[in-house]
Amino acid sequence: MILLSLLQKKASDAIFQAFGEKLQGEILSCDNESFGHYQCNNALKLAKEFKKNPQEVAKAIIDKLDLSMLEKVEVAGPGFINFTFTAPFLSSELQKVLLDPKLGILHPAYKKKIIVEFSSPNIAKELHVGHLRSTIIGECLARLFEFLGHDVLRLNHVGDWGTQFGMLIAYIKTEVLDEVADADLKKLMIWYKAAKKKFDEEATFKKLAQNEVILLQNREEESLHLWERICEISRLAFQQIYDLLDVTLIERGESFYNPFLKNLVEDLQKKGLITISEGAKCLLMEEFKNREGEAMPLMVQKSDGGFNYDTTDLAALRHRILVERADRIIIVTDMGQSLHFKLVFKAAELANYYDPRKVQLDHVGFGLVLGSDGKKFKTRSGETEKLVDLLYEAIEHARNTVKERIPDINEDELEYLAKNLGIAAVKYADLSSHRQKDYTFSYERMLRFEGNTALFLLYSYVRIMGIKKRTGVDISKVMKNHHIELKHPSEIALGLHLLRFGEVLNMVEIDLLPNRLTDYLYQLASRFNAFFRDCHVAGTKEEGARLLLCEVTAKILKQGLYLLGIKTVDRM
Ligand code: ARG
Repeated sequence: MILLSLLQKKASDAIFQAFGEKLQGEILSCDNESFGHYQCNNALKLAKEFKKNPQEVAKAIIDKLDLSMLEKVEVAGPGFINFTFTAPFLSSELQKVLLDPKLGILHPAYKKKIIVEFSSPNIAKELHVGHLRSTIIGECLARLFEFLGHDVLRLNHVGDWGTQFGMLIAYIKTEVLDEVADADLKKLMIWYKAAKKKFDEEATFKKLAQNEVILLQNREEESLHLWERICEISRLAFQQIYDLLDVTLIERGESFYNPFLKNLVEDLQKKGLITISEGAKCLLMEEFKNREGEAMPLMVQKSDGGFNYDTTDLAALRHRILVERADRIIIVTDMGQSLHFKLVFKAAELANYYDPRKVQLDHVGFGLVLGSDGKKFKTRSGETEKLVDLLYEAIEHARNTVKERIPDINEDELEYLAKNLGIAAVKYADLSSHRQKDYTFSYERMLRFEGNTALFLLYSYVRIMGIKKRTGVDISKVMKNHHIELKHPSEIALGLHLLRFGEVLNMVEIDLLPNRLTDYLYQLASRFNAFFRDCHVAGTKEEGARLLLCEVTAKILKQGLYLLGIKTVDRM
């Protein structure tokens, strides 16, 4: 049971009985738990409405409140109502969580189809640190919605189409055709650069490249075959990173929507949404004005007849809504694309592709990754950092950290731990920063054992496991013979926090901010440490009950870390 929802209902019922008004209870968790666990804010607004004293309104609500399971209900400040649950109630609720494989998370009343589009790198280019955030945040959101019981489709909207392929294919055909069979992504990048140079400098090559685009569009065999080969080479390199990050994606790139583009523009035209501007077909978006006060255009067909990024995104949206029947579509990219998605979402609404009351569209924007100089993260040689290098460097740093802590560790375990901790540190550093803000990347900081870091949480998990091991008891036997009994204030504080897991997940479900979950887990580990400092476990008469509290803490910590894409380890 979600305590917050329970109180919402109780408050709502009491308000109805006291005043005959049907209202949702406005409940927040209290910052200072010594005053109460949750507070209700309805009385203030109601008092305004009735022109009454808010404290009297609060008292009238309390009079009608069902007080079972509450230890204390008080009017505080200008008219808040503070609730404190009884320890036995919290204990029995936590006992249910302990026994529930879903840890108290209820099945949703309606199973939504949710599309999470993330990562989405460009073919023939390496992933860079900008794709890191998209990949990490997207994977986290996908895991969250799966855990909440929804049907999730994870889409990798790779940039696999466009005029740049004409250039690359023309270059391969004329210069390096015999090398393409065993080329890798590095090679492709080199060719790409050379092709671009040739394109800018040589008129004949430019013609050739432009012709290649047409051949490709007409699905001419050799050009298409080379394009497929380019995609395949890129895919292999991307997959190496996804494996390292333990990320699952279904590739459905821009080219997938090619067959729908012509019809899309025709449909927009039929609906009277198209304006011709300098030969190009545009939707003039009255809701969005530029500095001169003119409606912003969303161009869906260029004057040469070609389609572009905007056309593809609108076609993708239409497909996801009408064919995939998504209830919610989440697109994870940098914040630089916010306006683009605002325009595309609005265009889809104008074209009647969706009803905003039924389908929810979210652009999940994120800030930049900065280097220690406060500028966009670069390698020492000044190039944009490649994601693969960055990840291996994090693993290398983690290896040194582990070696320092466990000097006698064997090579296999060292390898395993370094990889796990290095990747966990990178993910956690990213997810724990507010996603809309820039954050400064630091190997040193992300691999600390103290503070709000992956290693602190992973180590807390290892400690809990250690406690269980040291008592030498069989936890399934303990489960049979004991139940959770929260008594000491540190136990109650920990228990209450554990019961807030679902509430926090529901908040992330709404605003898609993973740092809410990292903050929660950091607090969880801190409260566990306080409990373990204040309450002995082994050899006390509370041993059984306290071991169960350890057990449920470990479960929620593990599940929470899993949602962040982080695997727990047994020793570190
Ligand atoms: N391929 C683009 C890039 O690497 C990101 C695509 C974002 N998704 C979208 N539907 N436009 O910058």
